Amino acid sequence: MNTKQMRRALTEFATNSKGRKLDPVDLLRRTDMQVDWETLSKLAGNSIVNPRQFDRETVVAIAQLAALLETRNVEMKKPLDGKIAITAFFEASTRTRLSFESAVLRLDGKVLSVPDGQVTGIAKGESLADIGEMFNTYGDVVIMRHPETESVDEIQKNLERPLINAGNGSGHHPTQALLDWYTLLKWRPELSDRSCPSEKKIHLGIVGTPGSMRAVKSFLRLSLMFVDAVSKITLVSEMADPVGLDLTEPIEESPIPIEITNDVQEVLPDLDVVYVNSIAFLGDSYRNLDSRYGLDASSKLKPGAVIMHPLARNEELSEDLDDTVHNLYFAQAAGAVFVRQAVLAAVLNRLDRISDLC
Ligand code: CP
Repeated sequence: MNTKQMRRALTEFATNSKGRKLDPVDLLRRTDMQVDWETLSKLAGNSIVNPRQFDRETVVAIAQLAALLETRNVEMKKPLDGKIAITAFFEASTRTRLSFESAVLRLDGKVLSVPDGQVTGIAKGESLADIGEMFNTYGDVVIMRHPETESVDEIQKNLERPLINAGNGSGHHPTQALLDWYTLLKWRPELSDRSCPSEKKIHLGIVGTPGSMRAVKSFLRLSLMFVDAVSKITLVSEMADPVGLDLTEPIEESPIPIEITNDVQEVLPDLDVVYVNSIAFLGDSYRNLDSRYGLDASSKLKPGAVIMHPLARNEELSEDLDDTVHNLYFAQAAGAVFVRQAVLAAVLNRLDRISDLC
């Protein structure tokens, strides 16, 4: 398939209705339409629980495969035929559960869905460890969200199937970070190059406290790997130490300059990317910070700057930004299906069914 045919095929897919619409073909062209299958094959049979298990090569390889999947109709190849994914959600979700389930179904796999953990034996006091034991025979991969950080360790006491952590309390949200970087690499494909010119590097602003917010923590963890693409990271937080234990060492070791400020307005005009999350989810005492750090169409953003947000949103992100070029957050959500397809095909060792797509 040549570039023109790929772009035509792409138009057959639904994408975000508002904000920037991203074309994955330009990302694929950076590698002559090739995908790093060897790097991806190392994920076979592995759990995905913490972004620290990735390196930059793996993040780029997943983005390449996601881009390939976004440009092709792969249903005929039935990549996940015969595989069952269990989505066990003990905490509310719109995007993560449904995009994982869509990813599985579009690859011809089957889904056992637990949209609310209270319909399981948890309501009767059953332990997650026991539930993990049951899952060994009910499915081939488990995708779990849970409000407790320790839930990952708990279910893995007995679970022998690969576990994909879809958010564990204030812990991690690794596939969110993968789709965040997929979005950035589609937006600026040159960020995937080792030789990204200095004038193309991005100044990244992160509004929130990575220490207690899993999406920003995982996004920051992956961002620290892109030393050739990120010129500087500014954390915007009220807290003296917003980083937390998980990231203290990676930040100290990173060559990327990192500054902390509590004044979003001061730094905003200098940021290429502003990553926002809803601080209100941390509790009522944080709710007023959403409005203090809130962004709207009158915010003093750099002309080409983009706003990212894992969603759901509160007052920190006004709807009047939705129809602007700053809106990258709907593109994030739209790309989620393809990143999760890439992760599932790799973890379930089914890359051989799609490796002739290049
Ligand atoms: N981004 C994200 O995790 O969204 P959901 O809470 O809707 O899954």
